[in-house]
Amino acid sequence: MKTPTRPLIAGNWKMNGSRAFAKDMAEALVNRLSEREEVGFEMLLCPPAPLIDVVRESVGASGIVIGGQDCHAAKQGAHTGDIAAVMLADAGCNYVIVGHSERRGDYGEVDAVVRDKAAAVQMAGLIPLVCVGETVEQREAGEAVEIVTKQVEGSIPNGSSASTVIVAYEPVWAIGTGRSATVKDIAEIHNSIRTVLSKIVVDGESVRILYGGSVKPDNAAAILSVDNVNGALVGGASLNAHEFFSIAEAAPS
Ligand code: PGA
Repeated sequence: MKTPTRPLIAGNWKMNGSRAFAKDMAEALVNRLSEREEVGFEMLLCPPAPLIDVVRESVGASGIVIGGQDCHAAKQGAHTGDIAAVMLADAGCNYVIVGHSERRGDYGEVDAVVRDKAAAVQMAGLIPLVCVGETVEQREAGEAVEIVTKQVEGSIPNGSSASTVIVAYEPVWAIGTGRSATVKDIAEIHNSIRTVLSKIVVDGESVRILYGGSVKPDNAAAILSVDNVNGALVGGASLNAHEFFSIAEAAPS
Protein backbone atom coordinates (compact mmCIF):
# COMPACT_ATOMS: atom_id res chain seq x y z
CA MET A 1 0.00 0.00 0.00
CA LYS A 2 1.30 3.50 -0.78
CA THR A 3 1.30 6.06 1.98
CA PRO A 4 -0.69 9.21 1.28
CA THR A 5 2.29 11.47 1.98
CA ARG A 6 4.68 12.71 -0.70
CA PRO A 7 7.85 10.68 -1.27
CA LEU A 8 10.78 11.90 0.81
CA ILE A 9 14.02 12.41 -1.11
CA ALA A 10 16.81 12.68 1.44
CA GLY A 11 20.43 13.58 0.73
CA ASN A 12 23.05 12.24 3.12
CA TRP A 13 26.18 14.26 2.50
CA LYS A 14 28.17 12.15 4.98
CA MET A 15 31.56 13.78 5.81
CA ASN A 16 31.72 15.91 2.68
CA GLY A 17 31.45 19.58 1.82
CA SER A 18 32.51 23.04 2.92
CA ARG A 19 30.51 26.19 3.64
CA ALA A 20 30.94 27.31 0.02
CA PHE A 21 29.82 23.90 -1.29
CA ALA A 22 26.81 23.85 1.04
CA LYS A 23 25.69 27.31 -0.06
CA ASP A 24 26.08 26.47 -3.77
CA MET A 25 24.27 23.15 -3.44
CA ALA A 26 21.38 24.53 -1.43
CA GLU A 27 20.96 27.53 -3.74
CA ALA A 28 21.04 25.35 -6.84
CA LEU A 29 18.33 23.09 -5.40
CA VAL A 30 16.20 26.05 -4.35
CA ASN A 31 16.47 27.44 -7.91
CA ARG A 32 15.42 24.13 -9.43
CA LEU A 33 12.49 23.89 -7.02
CA SER A 34 11.33 27.42 -7.82
CA GLU A 35 11.13 26.51 -11.52
CA ARG A 36 8.47 23.90 -10.77
CA GLU A 37 4.80 24.72 -10.48
CA GLU A 38 4.06 21.65 -8.41
CA VAL A 39 6.40 19.74 -6.18
CA GLY A 40 5.40 16.14 -5.74
CA PHE A 41 8.15 15.26 -3.27
CA GLU A 42 9.62 16.47 -0.02
CA MET A 43 13.34 17.24 -0.09
CA LEU A 44 15.62 16.72 2.90
CA LEU A 45 19.31 17.63 3.16
CA CYS A 46 21.49 16.05 5.86
CA PRO A 47 24.79 17.96 5.83
CA PRO A 48 27.62 17.55 8.33
CA ALA A 49 26.73 19.41 11.55
CA PRO A 50 29.02 22.45 10.97
CA LEU A 51 27.22 23.14 7.68
CA ILE A 52 23.67 23.02 9.02
CA ASP A 53 23.45 26.77 9.59
CA VAL A 54 24.64 27.72 6.10
CA VAL A 55 22.24 25.20 4.53
CA ARG A 56 19.41 26.53 6.67
CA GLU A 57 20.10 30.11 5.59
CA SER A 58 20.41 29.12 1.94
CA VAL A 59 17.21 27.06 1.73
CA GLY A 60 15.20 29.83 3.41
CA ALA A 61 11.46 29.33 2.98
CA SER A 62 11.83 27.03 -0.04
CA GLY A 63 10.34 24.06 1.79
CA ILE A 64 13.59 22.05 1.74
CA VAL A 65 14.04 20.59 5.21
CA ILE A 66 17.23 19.75 7.09
CA GLY A 67 18.41 16.77 9.09
CA GLY A 68 21.34 15.66 11.19
CA GLN A 69 23.35 12.52 10.37
CA ASP A 70 23.51 11.13 13.92
CA CYS A 71 23.02 12.17 17.54
CA HIS A 72 23.74 11.03 21.07
CA ALA A 73 20.96 9.38 23.07
CA ALA A 74 21.43 11.77 26.00
CA LYS A 75 20.02 15.28 26.14
CA GLN A 76 23.28 16.85 27.31
CA GLY A 77 26.35 16.11 29.35
CA ALA A 78 29.93 14.90 29.31
CA HIS A 79 30.07 13.32 25.84
CA THR A 80 32.97 14.98 24.05
CA GLY A 81 32.47 15.19 20.32
CA ASP A 82 28.81 14.19 20.41
CA ILE A 83 25.72 16.16 19.47
CA ALA A 84 22.34 15.98 21.22
CA ALA A 85 19.11 15.73 19.25
CA VAL A 86 17.84 18.86 21.01
CA MET A 87 20.86 20.74 19.62
CA LEU A 88 19.96 19.62 16.11
CA ALA A 89 16.41 20.82 16.74
CA ASP A 90 17.78 24.14 17.96
CA ALA A 91 19.90 24.39 14.80
CA GLY A 92 16.81 24.07 12.61
CA CYS A 93 16.67 20.35 11.81
CA ASN A 94 13.45 18.40 11.39
CA TYR A 95 14.98 14.95 10.98
CA VAL A 96 17.97 12.93 12.17
CA ILE A 97 19.46 9.83 10.53
CA VAL A 98 20.18 7.13 13.13
CA GLY A 99 21.71 3.68 12.77
CA HIS A 100 23.33 4.29 9.38
CA SER A 101 25.44 1.25 8.50
CA GLU A 102 28.57 3.42 8.66
CA ARG A 103 27.69 4.23 12.31
CA ARG A 104 26.80 0.62 13.02
CA GLY A 105 30.06 -0.48 11.38
CA ASP A 106 32.48 2.24 12.53
CA TYR A 107 31.17 2.58 16.10
CA GLY A 108 29.57 -0.78 16.84
CA GLU A 109 26.12 0.75 17.22
CA VAL A 110 23.74 -2.13 17.88
CA ASP A 111 19.95 -2.00 17.61
CA ALA A 112 19.44 -0.99 21.28
CA VAL A 113 21.76 2.01 20.82
CA VAL A 114 19.97 2.99 17.61
CA ARG A 115 16.60 2.72 19.36
CA ASP A 116 17.76 4.97 22.22
CA LYS A 117 19.04 7.52 19.73
CA ALA A 118 15.76 7.37 17.77
CA ALA A 119 13.84 7.89 21.03
CA ALA A 120 16.01 10.93 21.82
CA VAL A 121 15.25 12.32 18.37
CA GLN A 122 11.53 11.88 18.99
CA MET A 123 11.82 13.47 22.45
CA ALA A 124 13.40 16.49 20.79
CA GLY A 125 10.36 16.75 18.52
CA LEU A 126 12.22 15.55 15.41
CA ILE A 127 11.74 12.49 13.21
CA PRO A 128 14.38 9.76 13.14
CA LEU A 129 15.27 8.06 9.87
CA VAL A 130 16.09 4.63 11.26
CA CYS A 131 18.48 2.79 8.93
CA VAL A 132 18.55 -0.98 8.58
CA GLY A 133 20.13 -3.33 6.07
CA GLU A 134 21.93 -6.63 5.68
CA THR A 135 25.57 -7.29 4.78
CA VAL A 136 26.55 -9.18 1.63
CA GLU A 137 27.34 -12.28 3.70
CA GLN A 138 23.90 -12.19 5.29
CA ARG A 139 22.23 -11.79 1.90
CA GLU A 140 24.23 -14.64 0.39
CA ALA A 141 23.24 -16.82 3.36
CA GLY A 142 19.58 -16.09 2.58
CA GLU A 143 19.15 -14.17 5.86
CA ALA A 144 18.28 -10.71 4.52
CA VAL A 145 14.60 -10.69 5.50
CA GLU A 146 15.30 -12.13 8.95
CA ILE A 147 18.15 -9.68 9.69
CA VAL A 148 16.24 -6.63 8.52
CA THR A 149 13.12 -7.68 10.43
CA LYS A 150 15.16 -8.04 13.63
CA GLN A 151 16.80 -4.65 13.08
CA VAL A 152 13.43 -2.97 12.59
CA GLU A 153 12.00 -4.63 15.71
CA GLY A 154 15.06 -3.72 17.76
CA SER A 155 15.68 -0.19 16.50
CA ILE A 156 12.25 1.44 16.52
CA PRO A 157 11.16 3.01 19.82
CA ASN A 158 7.96 1.82 21.45
CA GLY A 159 5.06 4.15 20.82
CA SER A 160 6.32 5.29 17.41
CA SER A 161 3.78 6.24 14.75
CA ALA A 162 3.83 7.14 11.06
CA SER A 163 4.28 10.79 11.99
CA THR A 164 7.21 10.13 14.35
CA VAL A 165 9.40 7.58 12.56
CA ILE A 166 10.78 6.76 9.11
CA VAL A 167 12.61 3.58 8.16
CA ALA A 168 15.40 3.49 5.57
CA TYR A 169 16.36 0.15 4.05
CA GLU A 170 19.99 0.35 2.96
CA PRO A 171 21.68 -2.94 2.09
CA VAL A 172 25.27 -2.48 3.26
CA TRP A 173 26.69 -3.94 0.05
CA ALA A 174 24.79 -1.39 -2.06
CA ILE A 175 26.04 1.72 -0.25
CA GLY A 176 28.59 3.67 -2.24
CA THR A 177 29.27 0.73 -4.54
CA GLY A 178 27.31 1.74 -7.61
CA ARG A 179 25.46 -1.57 -7.27
CA SER A 180 21.91 -0.93 -6.08
CA ALA A 181 19.61 -3.75 -5.00
CA THR A 182 17.32 -5.07 -7.70
CA VAL A 183 13.75 -3.88 -7.87
CA LYS A 184 12.67 -7.43 -6.93
CA ASP A 185 14.88 -7.53 -3.83
CA ILE A 186 13.78 -4.04 -2.81
CA ALA A 187 10.13 -5.06 -3.17
CA GLU A 188 10.67 -8.15 -1.04
CA ILE A 189 12.45 -6.35 1.79
CA HIS A 190 10.15 -3.33 1.81
CA ASN A 191 7.17 -5.64 1.91
CA SER A 192 8.62 -7.49 4.89
CA ILE A 193 9.42 -4.19 6.63
CA ARG A 194 5.82 -3.12 6.05
CA THR A 195 4.61 -6.37 7.60
CA VAL A 196 6.69 -5.92 10.74
CA LEU A 197 5.78 -2.23 11.00
CA SER A 198 2.10 -3.15 10.84
CA LYS A 199 2.66 -5.30 13.91
CA ILE A 200 4.76 -2.96 16.02
CA VAL A 201 3.59 0.52 15.02
CA VAL A 202 0.01 1.62 15.52
CA ASP A 203 -0.36 2.94 11.96
CA GLY A 204 2.49 0.91 10.49
CA GLU A 205 0.91 0.82 7.03
CA SER A 206 1.53 4.57 6.74
CA VAL A 207 5.16 4.72 7.94
CA ARG A 208 7.46 5.95 5.19
CA ILE A 209 10.04 3.38 4.11
CA LEU A 210 12.94 4.80 2.11
CA TYR A 211 15.39 2.83 -0.01
CA GLY A 212 19.07 3.76 0.01
CA GLY A 213 22.14 2.30 -1.68
CA SER A 214 23.49 3.59 -5.00
CA VAL A 215 20.33 5.46 -5.98
CA LYS A 216 21.19 7.43 -9.14
CA PRO A 217 19.21 9.39 -11.72
CA ASP A 218 19.11 6.36 -14.04
CA ASN A 219 17.64 3.90 -11.52
CA ALA A 220 15.56 6.29 -9.40
CA ALA A 221 12.30 6.05 -11.34
CA ALA A 222 12.26 2.25 -11.21
CA ILE A 223 13.18 2.13 -7.52
CA LEU A 224 10.78 4.88 -6.46
CA SER A 225 7.84 3.21 -8.15
CA VAL A 226 8.26 -0.07 -6.25
CA ASP A 227 5.40 -0.81 -3.89
CA ASN A 228 6.18 0.28 -0.31
CA VAL A 229 9.06 2.52 -1.42
CA ASN A 230 8.15 5.95 -0.10
CA GLY A 231 11.32 7.81 -0.93
CA ALA A 232 15.08 7.50 -1.17
CA LEU A 233 18.10 8.09 1.04
CA VAL A 234 20.82 9.21 -1.36
CA GLY A 235 24.53 9.40 -0.56
CA GLY A 236 26.98 9.99 -3.42
CA ALA A 237 24.45 11.41 -5.88
CA SER A 238 23.23 13.93 -3.30
CA LEU A 239 26.57 15.77 -3.64
CA ASN A 240 25.63 16.86 -7.15
CA ALA A 241 22.66 19.22 -7.36
CA HIS A 242 21.67 18.14 -10.86
CA GLU A 243 21.82 14.42 -10.04
CA PHE A 244 20.03 14.83 -6.73
CA PHE A 245 17.27 16.92 -8.25
CA SER A 246 16.86 14.45 -11.12
CA ILE A 247 16.34 11.69 -8.55
CA ALA A 248 13.68 13.77 -6.80
CA GLU A 249 11.96 14.46 -10.12
CA ALA A 250 11.80 10.73 -10.80
CA ALA A 251 9.56 10.25 -7.76
CA PRO A 252 6.00 9.36 -8.70
CA SER A 253 3.67 12.10 -7.43
P1 PGA B 1 25.04 5.94 -1.70
O1 PGA B 1 24.84 6.08 -0.09
O2 PGA B 1 23.85 6.58 -2.36
O3 PGA B 1 26.32 6.65 -1.97
O4 PGA B 1 25.11 4.47 -1.98
C1 PGA B 1 23.59 5.90 0.50
C2 PGA B 1 23.69 6.11 1.99
O5 PGA B 1 24.68 5.68 2.59
O6 PGA B 1 22.80 6.71 2.62
